[in-house]
Amino acid sequence: MPLLVAAILISVVSFANAFTRNDFPPNFLFGAGTSAYQVEGAAKEDGRKPSIWDIFAYAGNAGQFEGNGDIACDQYHKYKDDVKLMAKMGLDAYRFSISWSRLIPDGKGPINPKGLQYYNNLINELTSQGIQPHVTLHHLDLPQALEDEYGGWVSRRIIKDFTAYADVCFKEFGDRVKYWTTVNEGNVGASWGYGIGILPPQRCSLPSIYNCSKGNSSTEPYLAAHHMLLAHASAARLYRKKYQVKQQGFIGFNLLIYGVIPLTNTSEDIIATQRAQDFYIGWFLNPLIFGEYPSTMKKNVGSRLPIFTSRESNLVKGSIDFLGANFYSSFYIKNNPGSLKKKNRDYIADMAVEVKSYSGNGSFTEELPVTPWILQGMLHSLKNDYGDFPIYFHEIGQLTGRNSSLDDWPRVWYMHEYIGSMLDMLRNGLNIRGYFVWAFLDVFELLNGFERSFGLYYVHFEDPSLRRQPKLSAVWYSNFLNNRLVDSKITMKTEESSSGPANHHKRVKIAAFIK
Ligand SMILES: *[C@@H]1O[C@H](CO)[C@@H](O)[C@H](O)[C@H]1NC(C)=O
Ligand SMILES: *[C@@H]1O[C@H](CO)[C@@H](O)[C@H](O)[C@H]1NC(C)=O
Ligand SMILES: *[C@@H]1O[C@H](CO)[C@@H](O)[C@H](O)[C@H]1NC(C)=O
Ligand SMILES: *[C@@H]1O[C@H](CO)[C@@H](O)[C@H](O)[C@H]1NC(C)=O
Ligand SMILES: *[C@@H]1O[C@H](CO)[C@@H](O)[C@H](O)[C@H]1NC(C)=O
Repeated sequence: MPLLVAAILISVVSFANAFTRNDFPPNFLFGAGTSAYQVEGAAKEDGRKPSIWDIFAYAGNAGQFEGNGDIACDQYHKYKDDVKLMAKMGLDAYRFSISWSRLIPDGKGPINPKGLQYYNNLINELTSQGIQPHVTLHHLDLPQALEDEYGGWVSRRIIKDFTAYADVCFKEFGDRVKYWTTVNEGNVGASWGYGIGILPPQRCSLPSIYNCSKGNSSTEPYLAAHHMLLAHASAARLYRKKYQVKQQGFIGFNLLIYGVIPLTNTSEDIIATQRAQDFYIGWFLNPLIFGEYPSTMKKNVGSRLPIFTSRESNLVKGSIDFLGANFYSSFYIKNNPGSLKKKNRDYIADMAVEVKSYSGNGSFTEELPVTPWILQGMLHSLKNDYGDFPIYFHEIGQLTGRNSSLDDWPRVWYMHEYIGSMLDMLRNGLNIRGYFVWAFLDVFELLNGFERSFGLYYVHFEDPSLRRQPKLSAVWYSNFLNNRLVDSKITMKTEESSSGPANHHKRVKIAAFIK
């Protein structure tokens, strides 16, 4: 096992850049995550019906890649073995999502007993190993039945059905599940699924490389987002009224945190960057904290932006106990006022910015740049704008090609840099409570299918047993979780082979921008 030997040798050498699990507060959670459609498989078994993601995958994933989640990692059948691996690794917590159409196949109406049994089994297996279940209710996989019946998230009818689904989950699993996230990456689901059409349910109207058969890119992203917020708020109110006192849990919402920095130091680009942050994050966070959309959005989107009644505003305001943050990569922002002159504007045109990739072509087909100083800057700016609330990093991870998989130094470097930066952030007063690596194993990826992966465990998809094999990153994370020193030797080795080293020069430069 040469990998193991290498990692152990490295772990005994100490450097200034070294840290251990014990440097973190004892209640800071370290975990890893997956989502239902990406990992479970058994898509047509035991009464499960399709979600919008199944249908999107069968239709060819908008021409992006091959494959679907029919089998995926088959966690549906292999959960016991997977939980054993998690326990061996030393995870405090596992983040997974419930497949709505497995639990309630038509989206409303009768509960599927086999689905109920599966999630009870998984949760019991986790808790018996001392691993906390952190559960997401909706991870881009709306039941297709609801999409067919009334257009899913673009209809207000979703609020009632989502709340009823959440009620079943709180009632059946809430005695053991203490952390609930209603919606994963609401900002991505709304803008990519209803604006550019690259994600399910693939609705769009403006000329795009994706041919959507229906949709309205000018209005539907805002409508879908509005209903996600109202559905979340309705479920949160139910949880707080009926379950929270007894079950002693917490409820939150999840957003993708786009790392954004101005392309130049001109005030135009600095203001444009703030506006981009309003559109990306404030779109949801402003209502969740203050009960209304950001003023930049009201101004640029105008009458296409739905309005909260005062009752709704009060319902949405203050409806999160924590924010789930997903973070992958960073982008430069350039002011682009010209896009506001367009007649039929979509979300990107309303934002009036040009987004440039930080390195590479930003297409999520190559290694992501490692920019912890940008992430830290974003979090300080969010705290400044929205106040102090607990944040869990629900997803953070590095992309590598399948072929370089076992010796995944870029992933180790990424984890080393970001876990190290969590310590900096805690010391700088940011309210971060946990870090979940995306992903526990190689799953069916949203933008990459099975071609590229984020996993700590390699999955031999060609082998009918779908054997899991630890990558170097799994060994490194396990060393860290078991409180062995992890150090900069790894960083130095990967820096030689990767672009964009995290040097102090850059940290200082970005710190100046934050102030
Ligand atoms: C979209 O439609 C055009 C014209 O029919 C076709 O050439 C193109 O390949 C389609 N794109 C995708 C992604 O299916
Ligand atoms: C989208 O909705 C707006 C507002 O209702 C409307 O003016 C526009 O024509 C619609 N676009 C399409 C492509 O249907
Ligand atoms: C921004 O300003 C800082 C200091 O004022 C300078 O060091 C840096 O090079 C500038 N960056 C750009 C992109 O112009
Ligand atoms: C981006 O780079 C990757 C890898 O170098 C390449 O496969 C992909 O086609 C590029 N995408 C664009 C839009 O240029
Ligand atoms: C590995 O994959 C990358 C990106 O997909 C490709 O550029 C490279 O040539 C591949 N290397 C080998 C040895 O197949």
